[in-house]
Amino acid sequence: MKRIGILTSGGDSPGMNAAIRAATRSGIYKNFEIIGFERGFDGLIQGYWKCLSTASVSEIIRKGGTILKTARSKEFMTVKGLQKALHTLHSLEIDSLIIIGGDGSFRGASSLSAEGIHVIGIPGTIDNDLNYTDFTIGFDTALNTVVSSIEKIIDTSLSHECNTIIEVMGRKCGDLALYSGICTGADQILIPEEEMSLEAIVQKINVENRRGKLQSMIVKAEGYPMETTALARAISQETGTETRSAVLGYLQRGGEPTAADRLLASQMGMEAIRLISDGVKNRCIGIQNNSLLHLPIDEAIHYKKRYDGSLMHLAQVLSI
Ligand code: F6P
Repeated sequence: MKRIGILTSGGDSPGMNAAIRAATRSGIYKNFEIIGFERGFDGLIQGYWKCLSTASVSEIIRKGGTILKTARSKEFMTVKGLQKALHTLHSLEIDSLIIIGGDGSFRGASSLSAEGIHVIGIPGTIDNDLNYTDFTIGFDTALNTVVSSIEKIIDTSLSHECNTIIEVMGRKCGDLALYSGICTGADQILIPEEEMSLEAIVQKINVENRRGKLQSMIVKAEGYPMETTALARAISQETGTETRSAVLGYLQRGGEPTAADRLLASQMGMEAIRLISDGVKNRCIGIQNNSLLHLPIDEAIHYKKRYDGSLMHLAQVLSI
């Protein structure tokens, strides 16, 4: 019986479990044996694994996090670590591996594929920073969590009539900030893809103040090149109005996946098994214009998406 390995790596994202479930069940449906490696690439190195059955993935579609645990493995990046991982796979007679994670995980996938392992990548990260796919698993859930958190903070900012900067995750990608800023009616959105000077930020707040609006809400991506508390201090000084800041942090990564993430994860998990069963190797699965697609791992890693400023334009027009 053909054995297929599966692991989750990098930051966890809601919907990873739904992808594990889908790959496990559609693999078993095709008479494959599914081996789950725990703690990402460390599990390959140390040999932490378990057989996944239809029962062991029962009821996980609704759960956040990942039942396989995850890690950012430094050892895997060394030649010795890679060799240990290959040894584990060879001794278990596994030549096909599904890796659910972000760009760091896909670079790990690429190293394994260069050594003859047939890897399929599934994009799982809240950051939505993989350029070849419109959406990654976990982004929609994180977005909804961010929106509801911002709304709670807005209640108190309105009551105290003060400016607020809310920092959201996303690494170098501004999508979580941009989408959540639009959905909560932010006055300004700061993302790494768009330059904005302190003067311009302050000027917009001053214009709002003169119109009688005494609280301004700014959503800032963590990748924006200005530290959040320092920015709040600078705005307070320049405008003479109180400016508070909040860093949402890890709460953005947890929670039950939304229906959209469960659906995307289920489709991608099943697609990974279909590709392996059809002998398609070393691909990353994505979605563009509502259709699943797959492309070579190295192409997926280096894919360059042009920044489309239309959502920022929408945000700016709607926040006049
Ligand atoms: O990649 C997901 C993410 O949550 C990023 O948004 C964030 O920058 C990073 O992981 C935090 O990583 P760690 O779990 O190592 O603190």
